[in-house]
Amino acid sequence: MADGGDTARERLLHVHFLPHLAPAGALQGATAIVIDVLRATTTIVHALAAGCAAVRPVGEIDEARKLADGMRAGRVILAGERGGKKIAGFDHGNSPLEFTPDACRDRTLVLTTTNGTRALLRAAEAERALVAGFVNYSAVCEQLLADARPLHILCAGSEGEPSLEDALLAGAFIEHLCDHYELQLNDSARLAWDCFENQGLVLLSALELGRGGRTLKELGYDADIAAAAEVDEFTIVPELKRDPLRVEIGAAGVVRSRWPR
Ligand code: MLT
Repeated sequence: MADGGDTARERLLHVHFLPHLAPAGALQGATAIVIDVLRATTTIVHALAAGCAAVRPVGEIDEARKLADGMRAGRVILAGERGGKKIAGFDHGNSPLEFTPDACRDRTLVLTTTNGTRALLRAAEAERALVAGFVNYSAVCEQLLADARPLHILCAGSEGEPSLEDALLAGAFIEHLCDHYELQLNDSARLAWDCFENQGLVLLSALELGRGGRTLKELGYDADIAAAAEVDEFTIVPELKRDPLRVEIGAAGVVRSRWPR
């Protein structure tokens, strides 16, 4: 599996296709990678790259409103979706393309989405939690190579079911990391890897094929799917910070492309 011969290091890598499939306590002492390709984690990368100071992930709509109300006017963006649509009274939905430099500069994004922000909240159990999309693939890979902890990939899924696009990205990370480690994979990780081997070459079509992609197409968000398939558009790695729980840019920069295709 690894190309390091006798020196290949062992590393645990488990994939959880839904946040609640990660057993309680499993993330302690580990690094978690949170994935919601369509669209929450893609949106978070866009928003931070466009100048948001931080993203505050919130589970419930009322909680998000309350948090935003307590912040300085003009310094906060209240955004999120339910059923893929913008929530009534919110400034923005969950479309990565809405988060332009003009909208984002120096503001805090309070974000609530159906599945993605919940996956982020679950990841708070980990010692370190990174936020990933195809859009920052190589930057996340490089962080993972510089970090020796066990890895847990937490996929948000779509309406309580595993999603193809999250599995594909999880598989893409395995495809890269298997060149550097003797990976100890769970069965979900093997499934994700197979999924990437089979469909990683036709990324955009695969993203359009899954349930989340089909829903977005029905709602007219075709451009969001294309945006989510832009491998390595950004070189930032958002990271979960505590007190208060928020996502900020944790690292930036890419030495070279790690995309295996
Ligand atoms: C989610 O958190 O479920 C999503 O990101 C869904 C969406 O953007 O429509």
